[in-house]
Amino acid sequence: MTKKLFYFLVILIVPLILYLLSLETIIPMPPDDSHAGLTREAECFECHGEGKEYARKKEHPPKDQCLKCHSPAKT
Ligand code: HEC
Ligand code: HEC
Repeated sequence: MTKKLFYFLVILIVPLILYLLSLETIIPMPPDDSHAGLTREAECFECHGEGKEYARKKEHPPKDQCLKCHSPAKT
């Protein structure tokens, strides 16, 4: 009986964790001239690359497919 209860709890907890992860808010690109019409990730690095003027913070997630997370600016 306790074993069944345990599995039941696991089945409830997994979607809950996935849901909480999906709540992380990601800031969109600001709708300014720097970002208008950008579609290639390579262009982002010209300003946000390491050592550049607007380099991302050290805590930034280590992924480089910018557009998967940062939605393009709405105009
Ligand atoms: C011409 C230079 C330039 C390019 C190219 C550029 N950015 Fe930016 N970006 C900026 C500047 C300047 C800011 C404002 C920085 C600040 O206020 O700290 C900014 C801000 C941002 C912000 C918001 C930061 C915040 O704190 O609100 C995001 C997200 C962002 N850029 C993503 C991108 C992505 C993704 C790309 C590529 C598609 C990109 N940028 C290309 C110059 C650029
Ligand atoms: C896995 C998702 C993800 C990807 C991919 C991603 N970002 Fe971010 N980015 C975030 C999150 C989350 C934050 C907010 C971090 C925080 O709160 O400090 C952020 C914040 C930023 C900021 C503002 C804060 C800072 O760290 O300076 C800029 C600028 C930025 N991202 C640019 C980029 C660029 C350029 C790329 C592609 C090279 C990129 N991001 C790819 C999730 C992502």
